Amino acid sequence: APSDPDLVARARAAKESLGDRVFVLGHHYQRDEVIQFADVTGDSFKLAREAAARPAAEYIVFCGVHFMAESADILTSDDQRVILPDLAAGCSMADMATAEQVAEAWDVLTEAGVADDTVPVSYMNSSADIKAFTGRHGGTICTSSNAKRALTWAFEQVSENGKVLFLPDQHLGRNTAVRELGLTLDDCVVYNPHRPNGGLTSEQLRRARMILWRGHCSVHGRFTLDSVNEVRERLPGVNVLVHPECRHEVVAAADQVGSTEHIIATLDAAPAGSRWAIGTELNLVRRLANRYAEQGKEIVFLDRTVCFCSTMNRIDLPHLVWALESLAAGKVVNRIEVDRETEHYAKLALERMLALP
Ligand code: 13P
Ligand code: SF4
Repeated sequence: APSDPDLVARARAAKESLGDRVFVLGHHYQRDEVIQFADVTGDSFKLAREAAARPAAEYIVFCGVHFMAESADILTSDDQRVILPDLAAGCSMADMATAEQVAEAWDVLTEAGVADDTVPVSYMNSSADIKAFTGRHGGTICTSSNAKRALTWAFEQVSENGKVLFLPDQHLGRNTAVRELGLTLDDCVVYNPHRPNGGLTSEQLRRARMILWRGHCSVHGRFTLDSVNEVRERLPGVNVLVHPECRHEVVAAADQVGSTEHIIATLDAAPAGSRWAIGTELNLVRRLANRYAEQGKEIVFLDRTVCFCSTMNRIDLPHLVWALESLAAGKVVNRIEVDRETEHYAKLALERMLALP
């Protein structure tokens, strides 16, 4: 639906009155009505770097979800304020690993005698607490665009039989380990925080190379092998391109896999007349389908069932207008602020990621 013209005008006026004091970051999964006001759009990795590189702006308005705003707060200076236009914009995947559960898991690994030879690698899609845990234990953060580099680095920190504890997305961890590092499915075990000892024996932990946290994305988890088979039948010659948060069998059946930035770059370079079925969030797929239609590229959603990320969608134009108008009136609303100790350790892990070769 087209954006309400009155709200568009108000957002524009508030943003203009703030000038360089405000910088708006927009994740690719944001609604069109919001993304039009982003100074920069990107995947999680690009947005983290943009936040770190923005020393001038007093306010960073983060149009994305809570963990991204936390990361931006960690990477910006203390006097910069990060604002999330709707505090209810969380991430169900990030919520699947709590600090208590992860501390307990580390105890289980310690009991099994494997913690000393394990490095944690946490997906950006995790709370600041989990990032701090990762930093404390010598690990790094990764995103879907640098997971291979992060895992390669992590395995260099441990012995030949050493392990990575991958949090919280089992699919990104498994897909990267198997597709990009040459590990096997047998090298991976799944730690279930809702079962005693994660549902694993000490022997299983000792033999594993990848200990995958039992978390997943509820949006990408909806794509199935049937979605891939069905679209191949419906659109002969279609290229199937999916995000690595999809299940392993979906990724294995796809032609290409990559982060949102990678998906955009691939479609940008695709020849006219090519056909693509995309397995990621619907706001982005619709935008790309519209953008490339006039170049004769046919872009469809991998599955016909509607698949927005409901929490990304919470940031809508009314919330953005409210945040910008409040700032313009001198009132800071919905500030995301990570406490100092958490920030210190989380920053270690994030900086390790930013320094990956
Ligand atoms: P990227 O933008 O890093 O590909 O991440 C996708 C995602 O699910 C963000 O929540
Ligand atoms: Fe979280 Fe999935 Fe939504 Fe990304 S798309 S914010 S991982 S629920």
